[in-house]
Amino acid sequence: MSQQVAIICTDIKEAVLRAVGNHPSSDIFILTDDNTLNFCYPLIGDLSCLKEAHLITIPSGDENKNIDSVVKIWRYLSENGANRKSLMINLGGGMVTDIGGFVASTFKRGIDYINISTTLLGAVDAASGGKTGINFLGYKNEIGVFNLPRAVLIYTDFFKTLDIENIRSGFAEMIKHALIYSKEEWQKVSTFDLEKVNFDVLRTLVESSIHIKEWVVKQDPTEQNVRKVLNLGHTFGHAFETFSYRFNRPVLHGYAVMWGLLCELYLSHMKFGFPQEYLLKLKNLTKAYYGMFSFNCKDYEVLYELMTHDKKNESEDINFTLLSDIGDFQINQTASKEEIFEVLDFYLSL
Ligand SMILES: NC(=O)c1ccc[n+]([C@@H]2O[C@H](COP(=O)([O-])OP(=O)(O)OC[C@H]3O[C@@H](n4cnc5c(N)ncnc54)[C@H](O)[C@@H]3O)[C@@H](O)[C@H]2O)c1
Ligand SMILES: [Zn+2]
Repeated sequence: MSQQVAIICTDIKEAVLRAVGNHPSSDIFILTDDNTLNFCYPLIGDLSCLKEAHLITIPSGDENKNIDSVVKIWRYLSENGANRKSLMINLGGGMVTDIGGFVASTFKRGIDYINISTTLLGAVDAASGGKTGINFLGYKNEIGVFNLPRAVLIYTDFFKTLDIENIRSGFAEMIKHALIYSKEEWQKVSTFDLEKVNFDVLRTLVESSIHIKEWVVKQDPTEQNVRKVLNLGHTFGHAFETFSYRFNRPVLHGYAVMWGLLCELYLSHMKFGFPQEYLLKLKNLTKAYYGMFSFNCKDYEVLYELMTHDKKNESEDINFTLLSDIGDFQINQTASKEEIFEVLDFYLSL
């Protein structure tokens, strides 16, 4: 896989025109969910290059990132004359770009696709990097392929119709990017006001966050080594996320990542002396904007069990990315059950 560079645009119509080029509009298939159909499609729908494009809409929500939706989209493509030269445009958040990317990568052994990210989480994370996929048998992203889109377009005005929870969810990945990258980035991101969002400032932070992800993916497109740094916060985070679904109180991905970051920075402190001042700042940020995930010590075994099943593990051991300082990461780390319980004790003491 070669490198994909996201285009951060000020004029979305101009960017779509360029990305589509002279592709016949009747051979373009635009995938949306019901929210992006309402809020985002109108911003590009009247473009002449999309005049005869087909519109496919699936219900919103991660529970629809499944094989039934894939079949529905494959069927639409088949029945409406899509061929190997057809182009898909995925207009949506991570749910739409993940499933749309997967459909495009598998239909007739792969057709070109463009991701237009309409959520903050999608922009800084899901839309670029070439990971596509769906949930299967209750496991997140169980089926999928690595395949880069023809283009990734980011237009931050789309985020203005997002609810504050989805802004904060995406922002958690930006906090993660800052932590793995530099103190300068951390300083900018950790002082951003998530109460009253300034979209101009957010735009500049999104740009640098995307560059950090691209800087990582470029070095290791298929996650053999360095890309694992992007898993910071995600071992505990995925356990919280799956736990929340299992017990019917679902949380947004980025919220689980924030709680996971808190746990993994504490583990980093225990094992590598990660500085306490940043841990404290992260705790304050989490409490102010995300609240805390509620569980008790009776849940430790379940959370531990979920971590042992994480697909990032390559052996019996639970795999972590940890930090000895901001910007100074340690991939392929592990922790004992006792250490993991100690981290959970710490979390519950906050
Ligand atoms: N491929 C990757 O590398 C990668 C990385 C991170 C996350 N993901 C995946 O991304 C998904 C989560 O992405 P997400 O947080 O963007 O969720 P999402 O796509 O479900 O969007 C969240 C909600 O916002 C709505 N929405 C989207 N754009 C909107 C807009 N502009 N205005 C108003 N509402 C809008 C959606 O309809 C949905 O209800 C998960 O499936 C996760 O597994 C993938
Ligand atoms: Zn994530």
